[in-house]
Amino acid sequence: MNSPLPPGTTLALATGNPHKVQEMRAIFADLRIPIIGLADLTAGGPIPEPAETGDTFEANSALKAAWYARRTGMWCLADDSGLEIDALGGRPGVISSHYSTDGRETGAARAERDAANNARVLRELQGVPPERRAARFVCVMSIADPEGRVVLQRRGEFEGRIGLPGQVPRGSHGFGYDPLFLVAPDFVRTGAELAESEKNARSHRGAAARLIASALRSV
Ligand code: IMP
Repeated sequence: MNSPLPPGTTLALATGNPHKVQEMRAIFADLRIPIIGLADLTAGGPIPEPAETGDTFEANSALKAAWYARRTGMWCLADDSGLEIDALGGRPGVISSHYSTDGRETGAARAERDAANNARVLRELQGVPPERRAARFVCVMSIADPEGRVVLQRRGEFEGRIGLPGQVPRGSHGFGYDPLFLVAPDFVRTGAELAESEKNARSHRGAAARLIASALRSV
């Protein structure tokens, strides 16, 4: 099979987060594919964000990659991620970042949103015993060509369970649901108690990025 990326292609990362750009550069280092972030592409003004209307991480990741590829005329990699809790039927899922408002964006600061989302999760799991609190972070990454066709998609997962109130929230690293998330297989530390390098090595995002890298490497 031929590489979906023509030789010499620069890949634009559809994220404004410089940490993600850094992390992807490290994972893609041996592939010699130059990576740039959206911040490096917005000289002509910021690119408006697409509405994340998909029901799945796959659909949202694909629509973001296609959206930014068409607007930049570049090959783009986008990710979509969130938390699935089995006892809640897979919620918060694709509305993870705005769970406390049922997916509605209110303009609240991230820290405020995270606290409200976490409070809702703990409330909804009230009375659920530890063995039924299984959860996983999911990340789906997609690469689209400059016409907006998705040519590669991979999913990474990070297993754990939601701690009991009193046991969590705990830890000062990470973001989002990390302080509630006891990492499998021993369920001792939360995601927010892992150092950044350890989290990257084990996380859904790291897993998805490594799967993308190995798909690009194996062609
Ligand atoms: P997005 O992919 O940036 O849209 O992230 C979706 C949401 O999922 C975030 O706002 C967090 O609430 C949650 N999430 C995704 N990855 C993580 C993680 O590694 N730790 C904690 N929360 C996460």
